[in-house]
Amino acid sequence: MELIHLILRYLHLIGFGLLIGGWLTAYLSRRLKVNPAMLWGAVVQVVTGILLSAPLDRAEDAMPDGMKLGVKALLAILIFVMVWVPHWKKRESSSKGHFLAIGGLILVTAGVGVFWT
Ligand code: HEM
Repeated sequence: MELIHLILRYLHLIGFGLLIGGWLTAYLSRRLKVNPAMLWGAVVQVVTGILLSAPLDRAEDAMPDGMKLGVKALLAILIFVMVWVPHWKKRESSSKGHFLAIGGLILVTAGVGVFWT
């Protein structure tokens, strides 16, 4: 149903907001610790991304490119692991390199979502 698709897309954008908002908050306050917004943003992105990739009742030609979905899934899993592992290990802070890599991957993944048509 078109409405379900729009709701999922809306939630997907909220998940993106959580991820990039959480990341920017940490980075700009120079406190390189993974925060709850990043953790839940990563979960929301993986869940809504998978649901968005389901055919629902979309016509075959309206479905996103399979290669694009594969690349996004890979990047999203990487982000998921990179935010949840330091949390599970109860790290008080992450290295600058690790944190910058998370931010870069978030931006690349969003870019794939928007520009890969
Ligand atoms: C950190 C992870 C992710 C980020 C930052 C992200 C970001 C985005 C953004 C910004 C859009 C554009 C939304 C729009 O134009 O309305 C998008 C669309 C989309 N994403 Fe993601 N995404 C992520 C993960 C995933 C995953 C894991 C999948 C599934 C494998 C996925 C599948 C899709 C699909 C199918 C769309 C197209 C929605 C549509 O136009 O119908 N995304 N994503």
